[in-house]
Amino acid sequence: MAEQRLFDNLTLPASFDAHVHLRQSHLMRAVTPTITSGGVDTVYVMPNLMPPIDTVEAALNYKAQLQAICPDVTFLMTLYLCDKITPEVVRDAKARGGVVGVKSYPAGVTTNSAAGVVDYAPFYPVFAEMERQGLVLNLHGEVPSDRSNDVNVLNAEEKFLPTLALLSERFPNLKIVLEHCTTRKAVEAVMEAGENVRGTITAHHLWLVVDDWAGDGLHFCKPVAKTEGDKRALVKATVEGKGNFFLGTDSAPHLLGKKKGVGLDKCSAGVFTQPYATQVVLEAWEEGVRTGLVEKEELAEEVIEGFLGKWGRDFYGIEESKKKFRLKAGQERVAESLAVEAEGDVIVPFRRGEQTYSIEWV
Ligand code: DOR
Ligand code: ZN
Repeated sequence: MAEQRLFDNLTLPASFDAHVHLRQSHLMRAVTPTITSGGVDTVYVMPNLMPPIDTVEAALNYKAQLQAICPDVTFLMTLYLCDKITPEVVRDAKARGGVVGVKSYPAGVTTNSAAGVVDYAPFYPVFAEMERQGLVLNLHGEVPSDRSNDVNVLNAEEKFLPTLALLSERFPNLKIVLEHCTTRKAVEAVMEAGENVRGTITAHHLWLVVDDWAGDGLHFCKPVAKTEGDKRALVKATVEGKGNFFLGTDSAPHLLGKKKGVGLDKCSAGVFTQPYATQVVLEAWEEGVRTGLVEKEELAEEVIEGFLGKWGRDFYGIEESKKKFRLKAGQERVAESLAVEAEGDVIVPFRRGEQTYSIEWV
């Protein structure tokens, strides 16, 4: 029996991807134009470049570079939380526009996070100013690994959750996003936290479990994918989360040589979903229906459009998109790779070679 395609011919408003890595230089020029093929017209761009984006000036310069590559995409910018981010910088960011939040990376947990946060308390004045100015605090929710205390990539997110609770209680009007939730416990923590807290869920964490990345660098990302039970909780959260979760793909392109290269020191963390951001979610929902995890009826228009865009836009206070696209089933496969000619290497997209929806902007 032919596989049932639930979303063939469906027309949807443009998606909002609330967590993307667009890099710089050659990678930036290769990756940024793939945003629209994933059904997305607005992205929230992460600041973990080298050097990190830690001034309003740098964020606005970066935005201008991205805008020059894709004039039709809206780029929302963020700052990298570190000593240079002061209440004054927060006020300046708000006054100049373009920067809508501040991203916190605990020191050392992921790509270019060496300059990240060790202790949150010194930043309380910054958070208080963000609360006043309406800037969003984006949390990479993992504590650093610590062998002597048995903290590792599998429990690092769970151990961060008390910090989420503490910050959301201390700053009840500060908009906080727990980025890329990967566990049932994270889902519960977001549901239990105040009205000021939301969670993003990536497209790839709706598919992957531990076994997929153990031994396959292409599926290795931070936070790592956890158990089947966790994965199911994430899929459920996308449809039953009452608007508390929205899409943030954390699409994180790395050259193949940095994933699987000969003599590679360490495998870079990140899964690249940008060119198929919306499709990877829709196909995870289809898989959910096929396996009985999700009821077809749960995938109401409000839920589909909510998770893919509206709930995130509402939280960030951005307007609904006027752009729409139509989905077509059956003609397209995920590309095997995206060439980055100037680097003489490629980036491999998630679900390479798999059948996928085509997107036509209408
Ligand atoms: O897997 C990841 N890759 N997680 C992150 O938090 C950062 C990202 C990157 O920049 O490569
Ligand atoms: Zn990220």
